[in-house]
Amino acid sequence: MKLYSKIFLGLSLVTVAHATPSNGESLFKAKCSACHISTFPKDKSKLVAPPLMGVMRHVKMKYSTKEKAVDFIVDYALNPSEQKAVCMPMKIKKFGLMPSQKGSVTQEELKEIASWMFENFPKKGMAMHKGEKGENCSATTKVKKSSAPFLIKNPNLPHMTKLIMKNWDNADLNLTKEQKEKLLVIRKETMGGVKKIKQAIQPLESEIVNFDNNLTKVAPKVKEVAKLKADATLLHLKCIKNTKAVLSEKQLKMLLK
Ligand code: HEC
Repeated sequence: MKLYSKIFLGLSLVTVAHATPSNGESLFKAKCSACHISTFPKDKSKLVAPPLMGVMRHVKMKYSTKEKAVDFIVDYALNPSEQKAVCMPMKIKKFGLMPSQKGSVTQEELKEIASWMFENFPKKGMAMHKGEKGENCSATTKVKKSSAPFLIKNPNLPHMTKLIMKNWDNADLNLTKEQKEKLLVIRKETMGGVKKIKQAIQPLESEIVNFDNNLTKVAPKVKEVAKLKADATLLHLKCIKNTKAVLSEKQLKMLLK
């Protein structure tokens, strides 16, 4: 129920700030903004889905009329699939396929949301970086894809949050609304932390590979990378622990089979 009170609080704040938010906007906030942010992403490591402006830029590249774009969005939110996606596969790899919103939003509500999305995004002045040709739905420059920076990689340490996203609406897993809310928080925490570590490792690694035969100088950098990777592994373990605490015995078995 916590999310509901948050949404309620959020909505009432919006109501105070702007005299009358459009219905589409309020609905977006309630139904979509847990994953899609509608502002410019300051910290890309916190994203769990492409920001709204990136999504709409791609939707408009393919569907130029409002009617077609709205139809697409309504359909995609209920029945997402890799084949239909207008964004490049890279982005689905990065975030996982969007879970269907069936059951949490109606077709009528989606029409209002989609219409608001089309009218308001991408915002003027949020032009994309030059030379970026729509590789993915991220609103800013591309993120280089690299493997997880874990110190210990072992099949006994599964990528829980990835597995969960893959099975988000799997009827056998049957996640409840409350579980989904908790799992999204865990996902955000884990992905955010791991991405920060990745970003810290990158410059160290490039210094290490160009070490110019100077072992004394490079040694502390190697140790620093090892420490960062250990931190990432601890985050990974925490994610496994927290996810297990949310799931029932039976769900866990199903997920890990
Ligand atoms: C649980 C997280 C989550 C929620 C909630 C969510 N989305 Fe998404 N959405 C994603 C992810 C992840 C992607 C990127 C992967 C993909 O395209 O399937 C995405 C992509 C999209 C896309 C781009 C599709 C494409 O062509 O690639 C649209 C349009 C979209 N979402 C609309 C919505 C709308 C409208 C809502 C609210 C009713 C919503 N989403 C709620 C996670 C979410």
